[in-house]
Amino acid sequence: MQSEAQKVMSKSEIHVLPDPDALAQEAGRRFIASASAAISASGQFNVVLAGGSTPAGLYRLLAQAPCRDKVDWSRTFVYFGDERCVPPDHPDSNYRMARETLLDHVPLPSANIFRMPGELDPVAAAAIYAAVLRQDFRTHGLGRPRFDLILLGMGADGHTASLFPGMPALGERWRLVTATAVPADVHPAVPRITLTLPVLNAGREVLFLGAGANKAEAVRAVLAGPKPAEPLPARRVRPRTGTLTWLLDEAAAAGLG
Ligand code: 6PG
Repeated sequence: MQSEAQKVMSKSEIHVLPDPDALAQEAGRRFIASASAAISASGQFNVVLAGGSTPAGLYRLLAQAPCRDKVDWSRTFVYFGDERCVPPDHPDSNYRMARETLLDHVPLPSANIFRMPGELDPVAAAAIYAAVLRQDFRTHGLGRPRFDLILLGMGADGHTASLFPGMPALGERWRLVTATAVPADVHPAVPRITLTLPVLNAGREVLFLGAGANKAEAVRAVLAGPKPAEPLPARRVRPRTGTLTWLLDEAAAAGLG
């Protein structure tokens, strides 16, 4: 009889890498493989980029040879998992981080980049982005957005994208995108726009990137702890039919034993 923790771990593929550089290398390999498979299967690669700082190493790797030359960027469509409600050139913008580390350095048509309009009113921005997703995936002949690869990070509090513990956005079951405030201790203390759990759980491949000792307790709680009454947001990412993979460095995996 599997324990709840064993069930979670059995549904998740967990890889522990020595350090953040090795994690970025493994994530880059997987990104390239996912892009190649998606383009072979459907002619396009729809990918969701994660925000925060952890993915920057992966993005820089993808922005240079040899990785850069192994992705067909003309058939790649880039979306965002969440955005801080700041202008796109603001230091806290996830779009700015992705642009500086990746998007400005690869031959990706600007029409293939779907930025969340963080500069707008949060509720309006969420509605606009949801409409973009519906339109794009309708033109792809799909119903609900089904991304080929969703990159996610996790905060030390177990949040992912901008789905925070105890916030209403976590329980959203119908909207594709929603606006949310952030808990008091979260930086930057600005509202967010975020994909919702139904969209994350529709992904074909969901890839968490976790690095640093400050994530170890949340990683343990999400991947090896007993199922609490209110599972942490990252624990609620359980793709219905897609794959779930965690890439962790040794520091973040320290609590897994
Ligand atoms: C954000 C991210 C968020 C991030 C985690 C981890 O907008 O901040 O979407 O979910 O992935 O907070 O952030 P770090 O990678 O900086 O630790």
